[in-house]
Amino acid sequence: MVKKTSSSLHVPSVSVLMVLLCCCVDYSLCEKKIKTYKLTRGNFSVTFTNYGAVMTSLLLPDRHGKQDDVVLGFDSLDSYKNDTTYFGAIVGRVANRIGGAQFKLNGQLYKTSPNDGYNTLHGGTKGFSDVIWSVQSYVPTSHITFKYDSFDGEEGFPGNVTVKVTYMIGKNILGVKMEAKPLNKPTPINLALHTYWNLRSHNSGDILSHKIQLLADKITPVDDTLIPTGEITSIAGTPYDFLEPREIGSRIHELPGGYDINYIIDGPIGKHLRKTAVVTEDVTGRKMELWTNQPGVQFYTSNMLKRVVGKGKAVYGKYGGLCLETQGFPDSVNHKNFPTQIVNPGETYLHVMLFRFTAH
Ligand SMILES: *[C@@H]1O[C@H](CO)[C@@H](O)[C@H](O)[C@H]1NC(C)=O
Ligand SMILES: *[C@@H]1O[C@H](CO)[C@@H](O)[C@H](O)[C@H]1NC(C)=O
Ligand SMILES: *[C@@H]1O[C@H](CO)[C@@H](O)[C@H](O)[C@H]1NC(C)=O
Repeated sequence: MVKKTSSSLHVPSVSVLMVLLCCCVDYSLCEKKIKTYKLTRGNFSVTFTNYGAVMTSLLLPDRHGKQDDVVLGFDSLDSYKNDTTYFGAIVGRVANRIGGAQFKLNGQLYKTSPNDGYNTLHGGTKGFSDVIWSVQSYVPTSHITFKYDSFDGEEGFPGNVTVKVTYMIGKNILGVKMEAKPLNKPTPINLALHTYWNLRSHNSGDILSHKIQLLADKITPVDDTLIPTGEITSIAGTPYDFLEPREIGSRIHELPGGYDINYIIDGPIGKHLRKTAVVTEDVTGRKMELWTNQPGVQFYTSNMLKRVVGKGKAVYGKYGGLCLETQGFPDSVNHKNFPTQIVNPGETYLHVMLFRFTAH
């Protein structure tokens, strides 16, 4: 071992250490702190954190120009770590449920982490909503891109996957682009943005008087653990029919707990975005349109929310928000008749959401 005698050797090694430990040259590799980021266009602004790539707030003017925050969430970033609601998060590697926390792919059985009874929900115990993402690109007047490198075996899923989520802001428009590339093994991928919307204001009570139109005439019914039975049924004559705009509360009490079901979006799946849902709120005049390239949308009326203390000490309860999680079908990995979620190395998963907001 060579004893260091000269301080001229010592100085450069210290500066190298400084670079490695504190002053990262490559922002995307080293940025592991949890921070907030903001995109702004006029009176429309959206904030995010790199923890779970969560959308933490969305400020929208009402018909008189008054701004309200229309998404549920927390004031403290630490609260997102303990959160079991998935408020505003990007969920994955496989959003929604995997029945029995296992699936077969190319003859091999994969066991994923069961975090919802015997099933896997939203990627498992520590899914993409519970990891720190890096920031690849950030322009406050235009977009932010978060990146996460998912590793082989993470929560039981096969292969490394590079995941990127870009949020883009325009005049009254929010675009979300989710991309994922498997590096070395085929794997299921199904990402979703788990925002809880309340267009009157996040702290205004329930969403039962919101009107919704869902451009989908079929659903995938589920068993009592919310795993699809594999059937595809028509919504005609059921409380699930929202082909024409209707108040969410108009028939919700005919259902056991509220809405928590995957709708099959009408029309052929292709490269084009399809209009999926229109939500309106009469008191504020706010309207939200959602378009996507995904085959399905989980409509969830926060049936399981129970006295969650959120932003400004607001208390969020049952029906406090509505979720429109565009995605592939639940438990697709165990249903051959559902559109596949398997993505191979060399292929890219692409999920686009487009929100258009107005107030009249
Ligand atoms: C923002 O809102 C205020 C009222 O709160 C309104 O006077 C103003 O015109 C709005 N600005 C834009 C760019 O929409
Ligand atoms: C999160 O949970 C841990 C352990 O249960 C607790 O110590 C901590 O105070 C909680 N943090 C917040 C912000 O609720
Ligand atoms: C997969 O990720 C691990 C670490 O997470 C890394 O060591 C390995 O080189 C990666 N393999 C490929 C093929 O990217």
